[in-house]
Amino acid sequence: MNRTEPLVLGIESSCDETGVGIVRGETLLTNTVSSSMEEHVRFGGVIPEIASRAHLEAFIPTLQAALDEAGVTLADLDAIAVTSGPGLSGALMVGVAAAKALAVATGKPLYAINHLVAHVGVGVLDGGALPENLGALLVSGGHTEILRVRSLASDVELLGSTIDDAAGEAYDKVARILGLGYPGGPVIDKLAREGNPTAIRFPRGLTQPKYMGTAQEPGPHRYDWSFSGLKTAVARCVEQYEAAGEPLPVADIAASFQEAVVDVITAKAVLACTEHGITHLLLGGGVAANSRLRALAEERCAAAGIKLRVPPISLCTDNGAMIAALGAQVVMAGVQPSDLGFAPDPSQPVSQISL
Ligand code: KG4
Ligand code: ZN
Repeated sequence: MNRTEPLVLGIESSCDETGVGIVRGETLLTNTVSSSMEEHVRFGGVIPEIASRAHLEAFIPTLQAALDEAGVTLADLDAIAVTSGPGLSGALMVGVAAAKALAVATGKPLYAINHLVAHVGVGVLDGGALPENLGALLVSGGHTEILRVRSLASDVELLGSTIDDAAGEAYDKVARILGLGYPGGPVIDKLAREGNPTAIRFPRGLTQPKYMGTAQEPGPHRYDWSFSGLKTAVARCVEQYEAAGEPLPVADIAASFQEAVVDVITAKAVLACTEHGITHLLLGGGVAANSRLRALAEERCAAAGIKLRVPPISLCTDNGAMIAALGAQVVMAGVQPSDLGFAPDPSQPVSQISL
């Protein structure tokens, strides 16, 4: 196997995107994605059963399109990488079963890859090797985490995460309350530009002293987030307007909600970085597309002396290229392939970079 610049195929199926990416070392050859998002719209969120079935139908066409675009064959590959977790159990199983079948049929080594760490690993495709003292802020419909990354292939630590809803999930739920449809992020982002972010003071979860503690003695949720109280506060606010028979100031509510989300996300991420000597922060996940999050993260990182790196949005949302990118890093680090007996792990911890 070529471990200097390996040709790696990456397969992603943890949520509603069927992704197949191919990289050569740190060079992206293709990032082919098929999404089942439209099939979930009328339910206002991802339905696991529908996502799993969609992966099954989309996998072979997506694989074929990826191989064609990259101009390579399965025989050319040095390794295959697949998301083993975290994610939706049934959805993961489709990608893992497909990857195992490919590995058996081609005799290529298979690497079971951590989806969250892959959101960081994708950074190498946009500007090469990642800097020292690296942190990653991952914000999407499925996750809200702050990580410390000492080594992509061998040392990643979870510093904080949401204790209930993910940030994108909060956007989706609030959009539903406001009757704005799914997914909620892009529409709230747009609407918020016409609203007043200080119109309503919505709660910032887990920011009271009993949670934050002090720098010397951190509280129990110093770097964690909670968005379910915020969602409830928006629902109560809407109810009050309705009970009073007053028109709903939708843009103001959207802007105030968004401000509460991005305020607490960026404040806690910057705090975690500062207190862990992190000087470079990589932003990932679908919510990285949010204009206000980007602006406030930029502003607060600059003030704290942290360099912010945001890959192009096509690499921030779930995709196969990120799995291939981390797979290649793991291959280059000399890690042994996974035993084909592995099962997907819906709650795979970040410390388990490959299985
Ligand atoms: O990473 P992603 O494509 O899929 C997973 O969640 O796994 O992220 C989708 C999430 C959705 O919750 C969507 O509402 C949110 O990202 N999102 C946004 C924006 N664009 C997408 N949230 C806030 N602002 C946006 N501009
Ligand atoms: Zn993701």
